[in-house]
Amino acid sequence: MKPIRKAVFPVAGMGTRFLPATKAMPKEMLPIVDRPLIQYAVEEALAAGITELIFITGRNKRAIEDHFDRAPELEADLEAKGKQVLLEAVRGVLPSHVSCIYTRQPQPLGLGHAVLCAAPIVGNEPFAVLLADDLLDADTAVTRQLVDAAHQHNGSVLAIQTIDIQDSRKYGIIAGTPVDARNTRVERIIEKPAPENAPSDMAVVGRYVLEPEIFDVLRRTQVGVGQEIQLTDAISGLLNHRPVFAHRYVGDRYDCGSKEGFFRATVAFGRKYHNLSLD
Ligand code: G1P
Repeated sequence: MKPIRKAVFPVAGMGTRFLPATKAMPKEMLPIVDRPLIQYAVEEALAAGITELIFITGRNKRAIEDHFDRAPELEADLEAKGKQVLLEAVRGVLPSHVSCIYTRQPQPLGLGHAVLCAAPIVGNEPFAVLLADDLLDADTAVTRQLVDAAHQHNGSVLAIQTIDIQDSRKYGIIAGTPVDARNTRVERIIEKPAPENAPSDMAVVGRYVLEPEIFDVLRRTQVGVGQEIQLTDAISGLLNHRPVFAHRYVGDRYDCGSKEGFFRATVAFGRKYHNLSLD
């Protein structure tokens, strides 16, 4: 398999669950302690060796472009005041060997459609997809775990975790045959099934390494659950052409698309990385 150099960040969602906070600001800019969600996702991608970041944006997303751009006035001001630590934090948002490309999803037609918008930029090579509202805390970046599994098994790889089956309507659910301790060869995948239709309790979380064959399938994928073009449905089609694996990653997930998960992440990251306490 070719090296995985590119990562796609779909950031065109409306963030309605966090209104009014997301009225004028993308949900991916909501901070956990001192960094926006999108920065955690980008750092995870960089830790996996990714050097090209592709953001699929929508309206109101300028703050993301500004965040990953240089800020000359701010940097000059911090430098003049001798605030070295803050200066490094601002400059370190993006290492100089990494490039960013922004493209707009013209209409909110779903995650599958957002990923398809990256096709001309990704070209004919495998790539990662990271959904920033799944915040993953891991010693080895979860995207790195997926990239390693993709090279080992020579196919696409989805991150999975086991869930309470009652929550199956929130996720893509897979079923398949285990190939080793952490990897399962996917045989079925269904987007947001009712618990009685869920083929297992193994749910996809927002990290994928995909082979470029996914784009051809996406072009043919019709609207699915929620009247959206679903990435899950395209992965189901990809199973007919290429192997797909589900990787049970090592790490903790915070669903920062929900208020409870966002709150949990804030407390956990404050304690673990910022020496903050509630006592
Ligand atoms: C998306 C995917 C779903 C996946 C989930 C993980 O759903 O469509 O298959 O399980 O992300 O967070 P969303 O949360 O955008 O509804």
